[in-house]
Amino acid sequence: MRTEAAQCSTLSVLVGADLVSVDRLASKLAAHPGLAREIFTPRELKHAYGRRRPDEHLAARFAAKEAVLKALGTGLAGGVNMRDVEVVNGAGGRPRLRLVGTARAIADRTGVRSMEISLSHTAGLAIAFAAVLCEAAPWPSSPAPDMPGARKAAS
Ligand SMILES: CC(C)(COP(=O)(O)OP(=O)(O)OC[C@H]1O[C@@H](n2cnc3c(N)ncnc32)[C@H](O)[C@@H]1OP(=O)(O)O)[C@@H](O)C(=O)NCCC(=O)NCCS
Repeated sequence: MRTEAAQCSTLSVLVGADLVSVDRLASKLAAHPGLAREIFTPRELKHAYGRRRPDEHLAARFAAKEAVLKALGTGLAGGVNMRDVEVVNGAGGRPRLRLVGTARAIADRTGVRSMEISLSHTAGLAIAFAAVLCEAAPWPSSPAPDMPGARKAAS
């Protein structure tokens, strides 16, 4: 019988973070009509424009997309469309991630089991932190010095 610990030992956690200036993004969106629809899904636009400070919510979603791409180790160069990564607010406002297209294909290749996103925003800055649980990290990771695995490997 597989124990919880044994299952966990085969998994990797990938993380990504991003910080976005609310004003800078708002200026870019204002200067390029249609850009918002290229970056954000209709559901994301509806969420943002249904609130008092839409620019903050859009900046947080932009940060979320970048944070997820960092966690997955890819950039836009890999053919990922920003709308491939969508933030969907669930019950109580908690944000969840939905991947489609190329981002979804990369996640499937990486063996992604689950993903979590956390957002925070003020008038000036929006931040997102993404955590991805996957079956095998696409790059080597360094064990923390105080982890039992690290002590065993060093001894
Ligand atoms: C949900 C809550 C944590 C949001 O925090 P905030 O400081 O108001 O706002 P932030 O900018 O940091 O975070 C906003 C984001 O939190 C996320 N969020 C909202 N509800 C959430 C929930 N239930 N769980 C996790 N994340 C949530 C959303 O992503 C939201 O951004 P979005 O609408 O653009 O998607 C806060 O409103 C809350 O309910 N806190 C509970 C504690 C409390 O009531 N404190 C006040 C008394 S001390």
